[in-house]
Amino acid sequence: MADASAPASTEVLRLAGVRKSFGVGTPREVEVLHGVDLVLQRGEFCALIGPSGSGKSTMLNLIGLLDRPTAGTLFIEGQDTRTLDDAALTRLRGRNIGFVFQHHHLIGAFTAAENVMMPLLLDRRRPDAAMRRIAEGLLDRVGLLPWKDSRVGNLSGGQQQRVAIARALAMYPPLVLADEPTGNLDTKSADGVFDLLREMNQTSRTTFLIVTHDPRLAQRCDRIIEVVDGRIVADGAVPAPRRIAAS
Ligand SMILES: Nc1ncnc2c1ncn2[C@@H]1O[C@H](COP(=O)(O)OP(=O)(O)O)[C@@H](O)[C@H]1O
Ligand SMILES: [Mg+2]
Repeated sequence: MADASAPASTEVLRLAGVRKSFGVGTPREVEVLHGVDLVLQRGEFCALIGPSGSGKSTMLNLIGLLDRPTAGTLFIEGQDTRTLDDAALTRLRGRNIGFVFQHHHLIGAFTAAENVMMPLLLDRRRPDAAMRRIAEGLLDRVGLLPWKDSRVGNLSGGQQQRVAIARALAMYPPLVLADEPTGNLDTKSADGVFDLLREMNQTSRTTFLIVTHDPRLAQRCDRIIEVVDGRIVADGAVPAPRRIAAS
């Protein structure tokens, strides 16, 4: 029986007719996304693939509320973002979206625990003991508890990416966006980081949208969305046997 207290919809993200142009009103105006429709449900683990310059990062920036569409609508957790001012967008982003970038944007002079606490600090304004417990719990999950007090500048690339993953999850966001999270790692570290994303997806039902150039990693996702020249040209489930073979 359905739980009456559960939200009726399990949609985490909806894009409808989303377009994005750069240089609007200048002679160099160019449209790079030409009407994107996309729905992600809670708990989906999706790869976003496509050639360089096809619009993947632009799409991620829109979904991450770092930029606004030129046209079309974007819903996060059922909330229409069109009507929101910048402060409301910042709040919605902080509470609902985690980011993992290829270049992790960690603060090298801060410790691993301090970096993971950062999103909590931005949301709650002042540090408290609960924040540190959350940060240490996440560092434990990514296998870095012994490094909690190390400056991230002293950690390896793979370790830094694990800190970035812990930080992305600090607010337990329903949606995590990852732009080539394994792009600058060796194969073994890349596999480890990818396994970790998958584990987070399975234990927390977090929805993931992961840009990757690596076809083998894409095959390990539940669903592959392919963008070419600013349009989604393919979107389908990865059959379980193929997913298992790639793992
Ligand atoms: N700020 C910007 N101003 C102008 N053009 C941009 C800007 N950002 C991206 N583009 C262009 O949009 C297209 C898509 O870029 P991008 O989303 O970064 O592609 P991808 O991430 O798939 O490699 C490219 O042609 C790129 O040059
Ligand atoms: Mg890109």
